[in-house]
Amino acid sequence: MGRNVGCLALAVLLTCAFALRKTLAQKGWQFEESPGNVTSSLGKPVRLRCGIRGFGEPPEIIWTRDGEPLEMSDTNQLTLHLGEEEEKWLSVSELWISSVQLSDMGGYRCALTEEGGELLSEEGYLELEGLPHFSEEPRDFAVVANRTLNLSCQRLASEPVRVIWLQDGGVTNLLPACLSVCLSVWTAGLNRSSSFSCEAHNKKGVATSTTGKVTVIPDKPQKLKLYSRTNRSLEVSWEPGFGGVYPVTVYSIQVSELTGGHMIYNQNVKAPPPRHVIPGLVPFTEYRVRLSCRSSEGVSDWTDWATMATLEGVPSLAPTNVSVEFNGSLAVVKWEEPAGRLNGVLRGYRLAYQSQEPGELIDTGNATEMAFNLSLPGSNLSVLGVCVHTGGGAGALSLPSASPPSSQVRRAISQAETKLNKTRCFTVTLLQESYTKSTAKCNTAQ
Ligand SMILES: *[C@@H]1O[C@H](CO)[C@@H](O)[C@H](O)[C@H]1NC(C)=O
Ligand SMILES: *[C@@H]1O[C@H](CO)[C@@H](O)[C@H](O)[C@H]1NC(C)=O
Ligand SMILES: *[C@@H]1O[C@H](CO)[C@@H](O)[C@H](O)[C@H]1NC(C)=O
Ligand SMILES: *[C@@H]1O[C@H](CO)[C@@H](O)[C@H](O)[C@H]1NC(C)=O
Ligand SMILES: *[C@@H]1O[C@H](CO)[C@@H](O)[C@H](O)[C@H]1NC(C)=O
Ligand SMILES: *[C@@H]1O[C@H](CO)[C@@H](O)[C@H](O)[C@H]1NC(C)=O
Ligand SMILES: *[C@@H]1O[C@H](CO)[C@@H](O)[C@H](O)[C@H]1NC(C)=O
Ligand SMILES: *[C@@H]1O[C@H](CO)[C@@H](O)[C@H](O)[C@H]1NC(C)=O
Ligand SMILES: *[C@@H]1O[C@H](CO)[C@@H](O)[C@H](O)[C@H]1NC(C)=O
Ligand SMILES: *[C@@H]1O[C@H](CO)[C@@H](O)[C@H](O)[C@H]1NC(C)=O
Ligand SMILES: *[C@@H]1O[C@H](CO)[C@@H](O)[C@H](O)[C@H]1NC(C)=O
Repeated sequence: MGRNVGCLALAVLLTCAFALRKTLAQKGWQFEESPGNVTSSLGKPVRLRCGIRGFGEPPEIIWTRDGEPLEMSDTNQLTLHLGEEEEKWLSVSELWISSVQLSDMGGYRCALTEEGGELLSEEGYLELEGLPHFSEEPRDFAVVANRTLNLSCQRLASEPVRVIWLQDGGVTNLLPACLSVCLSVWTAGLNRSSSFSCEAHNKKGVATSTTGKVTVIPDKPQKLKLYSRTNRSLEVSWEPGFGGVYPVTVYSIQVSELTGGHMIYNQNVKAPPPRHVIPGLVPFTEYRVRLSCRSSEGVSDWTDWATMATLEGVPSLAPTNVSVEFNGSLAVVKWEEPAGRLNGVLRGYRLAYQSQEPGELIDTGNATEMAFNLSLPGSNLSVLGVCVHTGGGAGALSLPSASPPSSQVRRAISQAETKLNKTRCFTVTLLQESYTKSTAKCNTAQ
């Protein structure tokens, strides 16, 4: 018993769901009557009518004027049952305007709306005698200089009407005259901001549309590229955007970091010349740059972002953990790569030292240790420090970790003396006072 009730409920649910999915058109609803063309005069009453026919519950009929729903209108919908068995219905809606005003002119339609679509009637035009109505008129907009543009002026009416274009108040031969349902007019570009309007002429007289101002703004700058650069700045160059008859005098420049995207620079600059140096940047870093320009009439679009990078700089870090160890007759100097930003690509290390020849420098390549053979009598070695170098130059010199005299070095010396007593004699010293001189040497090395 309970199972049967459950089955029945499920069947009803499925049927309902199926019924709900049917569209109005599938249920056979269609317009049988559409609003007609009406020519009236100011203050007169007007009645517009449309009708639908179909099956099931009659939907609500909505009125629209020039495509916009009429919310507050005086409408009346009547519904008539046509056949008992088929559930067939007829529904008629009337729109009542008791006293026609200018604002009532336009194209009227009836609409049935449902989820995912609508059914529309034909369009009927309500006109006032002697007063052509523009359903589409020139509007204000901006256009890039010398670029093609569309203008549209449309006079929808029951009778064709001649429409002519006015540019800055005068008839223009650049835009041909057209017949009422002529829509958009295309011209081959504009160099000077202008006002456009149109006039519709019929037997009863002339009607003028509203005036739209077309503002000519400059084209965006072209060919933005890197002109020159240093480790702290980028100089960009570009070609000016065409501004029509209006000179382009000011450019806006924006710079952001490529990674992270933080805006770090936003400046207005005067031009010509069309070049600009962006200062205060970080060495060996990628940036994005873009430009827009400005005339008396307005601002152009931004160019696309251009990516460019600063040159390598002198390393801001020095090798770490510099130490000297002894292995038999060898003194081995070791260090570690600095952790962090180097301002460039690591090209290798330089070790400054003094031994038999004072003030020597070795480029160790990528090796992080260097051995000195101190087996000969009288050999000596003074380690001055190690630096790292990039394409931008050599960085600061880093001394063996502990300041002299370090216990490590002293222990090393005594170990070496123990091993090599009498036959060989050498010392390892750390020369703090040579530091300044050696730093200079490290930096000027090839
Ligand atoms: C203006 O447009 C015409 C036609 O498209 C073209 O030949 C000309 O090079 C353009 N002039 C400028 C300055 O952009
Ligand atoms: C002008 O209108 C035509 C047709 O509607 C369209 O194809 C074209 O893209 C429009 N041009 C501009 C610049 O808006
Ligand atoms: C109303 O006028 C329009 C435009 O002239 C025309 O296309 C349409 O057929 C007319 N409608 C009727 C019912 O006469
Ligand atoms: C606008 O100016 C450009 C460059 O002077 C020219 O090539 C183009 O023909 C002009 N366009 C119009 C519509 O005057
Ligand atoms: C950048 O380069 C200049 C000269 O080319 C140099 O003097 C300066 O030290 C460098 N700065 C950095 C941070 O590398
Ligand atoms: C130096 O080396 C020691 C051990 O090898 C390590 O614990 C220490 O972190 C290093 N110091 C630096 C500054 O790299
Ligand atoms: C000392 O040098 C020898 C030969 O070069 C090597 O085999 C050994 O590993 C080194 N010992 C140390 C502690 O560096
Ligand atoms: C290192 O050796 C050289 C040559 O043998 C010698 O002239 C110099 O005085 C020595 N330096 C030290 C600090 O012993
Ligand atoms: C050091 O290593 C880098 C990359 O690991 C390489 O580009 C460079 O050529 C090396 N330098 C030398 C002197 O071997
Ligand atoms: C150090 O130099 C001496 C003499 O030139 C040589 O006999 C010895 O093998 C060298 N030691 C090393 C580890 O190269
Ligand atoms: C090494 O020689 C020095 C003097 O030349 C001496 O004082 C020291 O005791 C000797 N060390 C050993 C381990 O023989």
